[in-house]
Amino acid sequence: MITVGGKQIPNIIYREKDIPNIREFDVYVKNGGYEGLKKALGMTRATVIQEVKDSNLRGRGGAGFPAGVKWSFIPQNNAVNYVTVNADESETGTFKDRQIMENNPHQLIEGALICAYAVKAKAVYIYLRGEFWDVAHELDKHIEAGRKAGLYGANGTLKDAEGNPFTVEVYTHLGAGAYICGEESALLNSLEGKLGQPRVRPPFPAQKGGGLYGEPTVVNNVETLANVPWIITNGAAAYKGIGVGNSTGTKIFCLSGHVKRPANYELPFGVTFRELLYEYGGGPLDGRTFKAILPSGGSGPIIRVTDELLDTPLTYEDLQKHNSILGSASVIVMDDTTDIVWVASKVIKFFKHESCGKCTPCREGTYWLDKVLDRILRGEGRANDVDLIANVAANMKPTTLCALGEFAANPVIWTIKNFPEEFKAWVEGDRKGPQLAPMALPSPAAD
Ligand SMILES: Cc1cc2nc3c(=O)[nH]c(=O)nc-3n(C[C@H](O)[C@H](O)[C@H](O)COP(=O)(O)O)c2cc1C
Ligand code: SF4
Repeated sequence: MITVGGKQIPNIIYREKDIPNIREFDVYVKNGGYEGLKKALGMTRATVIQEVKDSNLRGRGGAGFPAGVKWSFIPQNNAVNYVTVNADESETGTFKDRQIMENNPHQLIEGALICAYAVKAKAVYIYLRGEFWDVAHELDKHIEAGRKAGLYGANGTLKDAEGNPFTVEVYTHLGAGAYICGEESALLNSLEGKLGQPRVRPPFPAQKGGGLYGEPTVVNNVETLANVPWIITNGAAAYKGIGVGNSTGTKIFCLSGHVKRPANYELPFGVTFRELLYEYGGGPLDGRTFKAILPSGGSGPIIRVTDELLDTPLTYEDLQKHNSILGSASVIVMDDTTDIVWVASKVIKFFKHESCGKCTPCREGTYWLDKVLDRILRGEGRANDVDLIANVAANMKPTTLCALGEFAANPVIWTIKNFPEEFKAWVEGDRKGPQLAPMALPSPAAD
């Protein structure tokens, strides 16, 4: 159970905290597992989609798009539709989906199958980043257990609301380890065996011509789909009772960086940064103070830590008030030992490496930003270097094919906006050469 403000609420996703060994098929079934799928199969497809819409479940992969609305875009009269689970999990500071797949895999499989039923899909593909090969092998064994029990696959014995056998297949597929393959259209290319580069849209994945093998496809994040069995079993109203406003349910916050207890925390939307950082994260390392936060990993705007920020509820809406985003909630915390220009440089190096090179502003822009930031950090910054990189980043934002270009511009734009004094100190010669204090990194919290 999760205790928040004296109230106890269930772990919806990390149920292994309440039920040991829930990863095993028998334990999962004994604790209500696959009852959500059976219930969904007795409902019409439209009712299942409406229930997910009513729950206001929003995509946990970053954009926060309502899952039920996405499902409703899939044409029901098409012969072949697909569901693709985005288990690429490459965002800096994000490490929540791996824990779901390792510790509560059947809930993900069940959620994806409910989605497959709702959108009339023939198959579910779970796309994992290449580095997750060990996770994929375990997942295959868990998938086989449900298949053997006749819950799905060619020999599925369950029947849908129209009396047809439920024979949806589930497959895992490993990528080759590229951040861009988490972007949904690059993921679909990679799954088809093509170069993992984003597609021009429209058509979007949910439309004919835009999805897997050109067929309408739902692409949802692991955490998004893992919520679905709970919603179908307990109802949209109960789900909406957790969280606040348009941010319903629980969210897994991946807390990392300069806190005493970095870990994944499943908490209801609406807890404040103060609660997350101090109550759960244990506060700053001894003798240090919090300085800056990347609430959505390297891809979102960086924010200065103030009392006002600490009292901000963690919701999609409230982060926007600070010109930032919640994204996949990969909260990276930095203390007063951190040089913000070094942070900008470090993040740009990541995006330069991960840019797929398809479009010029991102391919050349990330290279240019990296080069000038290196110059600044060597203590050789020129008077107009800060204006130069601000200008390059501003021009990248609206001109790139996919959001990676925008993500890459953010660390420069927002470090300059929110920490101008740090750039001034470097280019005006108050700092010469790298002078970072050696960073004492904490060890992960015990679960
Ligand atoms: C560069 C880039 C990388 C992304 N990486 C991931 C990822 O690793 N995992 C993920 O679920 N979504 C990722 N996304 C978001 C997906 O494109 C897509 O929005 C998401 O899978 C939709 O699922 P959701 O609606 O359940 O969030 C990425 C987007 C971009 C632009
Ligand atoms: S913005 Fe970057 S990652 Fe996206 S398509 Fe263009 S080059 Fe590739």
